[in-house]
Amino acid sequence: MTESNIISEDELVEPVIVPVEAYVSRDYASAEQSRLWQKVWQVACRVEDIPEVGNFISYEIGSDSVVVVRSAEQEIQAFHNVCAHRGRRLVEPKRGERNASGRRGQFVCGYHGWRYGLDGTNTHIPKEEHWRGKLSAQCASLTSVRCEQWGGWVWINLDENCESLLDYLGPIPEMLDPFELQNMRCRWRKWGIFDCNWKVALEAFNETYHVATTHPEVSRYGDFSGWARTYGLHSCIGYDAPKDMDKNQQAKLRISDGPDARVATAEMQRFIWEKANTNTTQTLVDAAERLKDELPEGAPPDQVLKHWLASARAADEARGVVWPTVDAEHVAKSGTSWQVFPNFQIGHAVNNMLCYGARPYGDDPDKCIFEGAVYELYPNNVGPQPPWEFCGPTAEEWCFVLAQDFSNMAAVQQGMKSAGFKGNRINPYMERATANLHRNLARFMGTGSPRIY
Ligand code: FES
Ligand SMILES: [Fe+2]
Repeated sequence: MTESNIISEDELVEPVIVPVEAYVSRDYASAEQSRLWQKVWQVACRVEDIPEVGNFISYEIGSDSVVVVRSAEQEIQAFHNVCAHRGRRLVEPKRGERNASGRRGQFVCGYHGWRYGLDGTNTHIPKEEHWRGKLSAQCASLTSVRCEQWGGWVWINLDENCESLLDYLGPIPEMLDPFELQNMRCRWRKWGIFDCNWKVALEAFNETYHVATTHPEVSRYGDFSGWARTYGLHSCIGYDAPKDMDKNQQAKLRISDGPDARVATAEMQRFIWEKANTNTTQTLVDAAERLKDELPEGAPPDQVLKHWLASARAADEARGVVWPTVDAEHVAKSGTSWQVFPNFQIGHAVNNMLCYGARPYGDDPDKCIFEGAVYELYPNNVGPQPPWEFCGPTAEEWCFVLAQDFSNMAAVQQGMKSAGFKGNRINPYMERATANLHRNLARFMGTGSPRIY
């Protein structure tokens, strides 16, 4: 498949069909390793996961594993997690853990004792004289992996000739830098092994079309439908602007459409906090609860929104948590969630964010590793730094709203294999991020382009 057989970004305004190969084919899943995962920038960890010199963390992607290490006070480096002698993994996740992590002064291979400094250089080979001078520093050291930082994450790319991270991210830094994501700290993070392809998992969160049906309780509080826009490799979704409302209403922090916006917003905030455990903060919930005492009955919705946000901002400021100031125009334009090609999503707001990632589980097209992490602002940027918790896809282990999303995943994976299914018929307005994902996947994979029907 050449570039000319692949649908163009402009053509995604049309209804397209996305073939199921990318979700269900074992050959496709195997080919992803060299064609996709070894070519793209991926999030390996947060910068604050490795605060001290010698802290390391591993990132597993299919058959590849990378070790990311703080090699000096101001330097983070990444290496293939493999000993240059006979290929033993240098560090391994403990049973049941998401990744390896810890703090070392050097890496010592557990097999024959080759040693490496934090900068990857070989520092010791037992019986080195047996090689009769053939082992150069280069061939006996760890192989480095491209590693750059943006948004508070450490990103890696296995292609040593890749473009810079900032070039790859395109418009995303300009859109999201005002939200100062690098200052947010994790409140909780969970991961699990789900019975669906990694694309099925991510596509549960890159559109607003499903909200009315999958989340009927959420929909009681307003209309959460919206647009999807494409930006080359990446996409963005956001809410449609209701008439006569402040632009902020298109953002994640929005009020309820109920008849008394003060009361309805407090109810909605309580629901989101208790049943989704994301997309808001305790400060926002408390400020929403105060609305009925601080504003008169019948206060117009745009006044309720302004008052709520100002009051939460002030309450946070009083405890040393300072939100960035982002103008309403920019908030509206930046939407509610960015889909970073191929497998990371950033759902940002001015004081919190929700991020999803998904990646293959081995080369099984029917399984994936799914991850969700929730961040907010903390005094002095010191957060609780919770460990990654392994969870099944249930309401008890995650929460009510996310479990509603999870409930579609395995059923979609199974349904797509049906002889009666002809491919995904993508909503060209609300689900365009999925069409764009597959358009870009086709460019890397050489197969699977969405087509107009
Ligand atoms: S495989 Fe690492 S020292 Fe032999
Ligand atoms: Fe959802």
